[in-house]
Amino acid sequence: MKQNIAAEGELILETKNLCKQFGPTTALDQVSIKIHRGEIRGLIGENGSGKSTLASVISGMLQPTSGEMFYHGEIYRPKTMLEGGNLGIGMIVQEQGYVSGITIAQNIFLGEEGRFRKGGFISAKAMNRAANEALAEIGFTDVDAAQYIDELDLQDRKMIEIARVMINRPEILLVDETTTALSQHGREIIYNIMAKMRDEGKAVIFISHDLDELMARCDAMTVLRDGKLIATLDKEDFAADAIKRYMVGRDMSGKYYREDNERSHQETVVLDVDNVTTGSGLLINFSLQLHQGEILGIGGLSHCGMHELGKAIFGEEKLLTGTVTHVPSGAKIKSARDAMRHGFGYVSKDRDQEALVLTASVKDNISSAGLDRINSGPFIFPRKEKDYVETQVERLSIKCTSINQIVQYLSGGNKQKVVFGKWIGRDCDILVLDCPTRGVDIGVKAAMYQLIEDMKNQGKSIVMISEELTELIGMTDRLLILKNGRLSGEFFRGAMSEHEIINCMI
Ligand SMILES: Nc1ncnc2c1ncn2[C@@H]1O[C@H](COP(=O)(O)OP(=O)(O)O)[C@@H](O)[C@H]1O
Ligand SMILES: [Mg+2]
Repeated sequence: MKQNIAAEGELILETKNLCKQFGPTTALDQVSIKIHRGEIRGLIGENGSGKSTLASVISGMLQPTSGEMFYHGEIYRPKTMLEGGNLGIGMIVQEQGYVSGITIAQNIFLGEEGRFRKGGFISAKAMNRAANEALAEIGFTDVDAAQYIDELDLQDRKMIEIARVMINRPEILLVDETTTALSQHGREIIYNIMAKMRDEGKAVIFISHDLDELMARCDAMTVLRDGKLIATLDKEDFAADAIKRYMVGRDMSGKYYREDNERSHQETVVLDVDNVTTGSGLLINFSLQLHQGEILGIGGLSHCGMHELGKAIFGEEKLLTGTVTHVPSGAKIKSARDAMRHGFGYVSKDRDQEALVLTASVKDNISSAGLDRINSGPFIFPRKEKDYVETQVERLSIKCTSINQIVQYLSGGNKQKVVFGKWIGRDCDILVLDCPTRGVDIGVKAAMYQLIEDMKNQGKSIVMISEELTELIGMTDRLLILKNGRLSGEFFRGAMSEHEIINCMI
């Protein structure tokens, strides 16, 4: 059999039994991987399979819980991305990685302004010149380095981040789902950088969920699933079907999901999302109808638009076209205030940032959403508030020392329950749950599934957005799959084939 280029190159980076825990979540489970000079290695896996975590550990942004890494045969244990970067390992992150309010040049040389010190001053001129050179080097010449980064659109900002990583001339470059958000021009820039690095005997680890793109660009591909390394294939063994099978094929026997296998809900439509296009451009001409007593699942890969859909339903996205209607009242939902007034509840994905006030108590967090239920006038009745909160804490068995405990100090699962408590207590009729079980352990998960099922049985309607296909299949009456902001598939309880669903996502 023909040996691939990757296997021929000298070993440059090796991880041995890397594990990473986030509280109860095992994001990486004994991952051992070998990267060689002159290879572009693809990383693929469902959402939540551990790709970003692996890249972050290699770059020094995260530290592993256990396991080791070797770089050029020596122990490699970076404490920060800066340290990793100085040693020759650079990463273009999945999230935004720039600083607002300063120029392009200042972004590119953030933390390295010292290079341009002349006497007591930083020479902006020299810095701008060097930044323009850095931009030219990666083939991005559409902007001037003296411009403020805020003047650029998101795609162009990504180019600045790339230039910033490339000025350190990394020997290993990690690219985490960067191409998805880019136009062809932006993609070409990244592809060129990758190809050049390969030709120079360096290495690239390329994360994307676009299987065709990976097959076209990579010399070898590693599949992750549930934090485990499932397989590494050489280019000549790339076959879309086999790779997809490696990505799924999980044990579905979790007993904690709904046990019935029938679609069951009323005919009444309670929510009508009609032809919605969001200002972010991540959701395009999207429509759905939610029925009373229905658990409607929303799934897809990163950037498919599912999180924006949740926000749009709750009135938190600017809509370019379309409407969100609370059908029983006919009201159009245009703000979170409208949504709350009409009995909507929303558990956002970024719970720590959006849904909870970390520095406030359990009591204040839970009562903030329910205040209108507690108070009949402009006054807060402390006794009523306390009773209300205690009821929620008990109902969800939230483990806290008292309802006055500051939320920040609760475990992840208990934080999650506090968010649930906020909304369930309000007796919402329509609940939008965005990744409701993200980062919680099996016990808490089971409790949440039970709660969700109870709510359904009480006639409440639920939109369940999730990155975990198993829980979508396990819990929903109907499942909509999004791809690039549009509907790409619809599946009904009792007829949800994991394989077919994955095919719609990719
Ligand atoms: N900062 C974090 N806190 C808690 N859980 C996290 C954090 N980052 C990632 N996770 C969890 O770790 C797992 C792997 O996530 P990630 O590496 O981002 O996956 P991928 O990049 O493949 O989508 C997921 O279950 C995710 O929810
Ligand atoms: Mg990721």
